[in-house]
Amino acid sequence: MATRFLGSSGIEVTRVGLGTWAIGGGPWWGETDDAESIRAIHAAVDAGVNLIDTAPAYGFGHSEEVVGRAIQDRRDRVVLATKCGLWWDDDTGSVFFQQSGKTVRRSLDPRTIRIEVEASLRRLGTDRIDLMQTHWQATPEAPTPIADTMACLMRLRDEGKIRAIGVSNATPAQMDEYLAAGAIVSCQPRYSILDRSIEADVLPYCQKRGIATLVYSPLEQGLLTGKIGMDRQFGAEAARHMIPWFRPENRRRVLDMLARWEDLCDRHACSMAQLVIAWTVAQPGVTCALCGARRPEDAEENAGAGSVHLDDADMARMRRDAEALGQPGT
Ligand SMILES: NC(=O)c1ccc[n+]([C@@H]2O[C@H](COP(=O)([O-])OP(=O)(O)OC[C@H]3O[C@@H](n4cnc5c(N)ncnc54)[C@H](OP(=O)(O)O)[C@@H]3O)[C@@H](O)[C@H]2O)c1
Repeated sequence: MATRFLGSSGIEVTRVGLGTWAIGGGPWWGETDDAESIRAIHAAVDAGVNLIDTAPAYGFGHSEEVVGRAIQDRRDRVVLATKCGLWWDDDTGSVFFQQSGKTVRRSLDPRTIRIEVEASLRRLGTDRIDLMQTHWQATPEAPTPIADTMACLMRLRDEGKIRAIGVSNATPAQMDEYLAAGAIVSCQPRYSILDRSIEADVLPYCQKRGIATLVYSPLEQGLLTGKIGMDRQFGAEAARHMIPWFRPENRRRVLDMLARWEDLCDRHACSMAQLVIAWTVAQPGVTCALCGARRPEDAEENAGAGSVHLDDADMARMRRDAEALGQPGT
């Protein structure tokens, strides 16, 4: 699969990456089968994907543990990306959410980052993390200066525990502060053909400065595969319950739009998921689409999008259709 540079790091990542949030299970994603998740990770790597994204918060360490087990025999074929900044061991940081009896806080305090990095290395069964990303940014209630966070991350890089530093869910103003303190190589924002808000700021900002973008939820958590019909229901705690596009009246409009793209799938001999991923990775400023998968067939299908190339007219037509949907009704 074609690769692109992770900013100035010298690390190359594939256009399609594997996201492992769902592999963590828990209330957001429900039951998961670890053996099946490991097969999915192997399928992605065997299909040419090299970037695997995880985080301590995905199943309170469970996703990292499963990824760690899966990559033991193929560590050198993987660019391993994880995160820091969501903390639940004590009351450092500002409260973000509660789940499974834990209070999760945002903390980019150097003390908590160091503890997190050691725990991630242990769970991932490795001596180096290729990309360490700050998961969510500090808030005014626990305002660790970005310069302090960066100083800590750069020391960890000098110690060889992490190879490169990235951010997630960061604004251009926050990235300005990171860049004033050191080198960030990537940003991980939310982006899909239905949620294009970062086209106004984050994408051009990163493109201008040579910062890679690893975009998340490109399939709108499966809705854009066309495989989630009107009958699927999600519990109140499910991640998909929070996405307005899944509400019946909105979902109907999305599925109707996808049905109108069947001729594009036929012409490019690809599935709907592949069509949508191909559109996503072809947008200006997008380096890689992080596609979540916990079944081998899904991981393999998503990886296959790396060889689907759409022409400008196809992409313009898809954009027009998505724009015509407007914002999801609430
Ligand atoms: N930095 C952040 O704050 C942040 C936030 C969200 C996500 N992320 C990262 O980005 C990754 C991707 O985002 P995401 O998981 O939210 O959304 P996504 O990639 O849009 O969707 C993933 C889900 O869609 C379904 N799916 C994927 N491919 C499929 C296929 N080919 N056929 C059928 N179903 C398919 C699967 O659901 P089922 O497994 O339920 O079938 C899968 O778990 C995450 O795993 C995580 O690494 C980061």
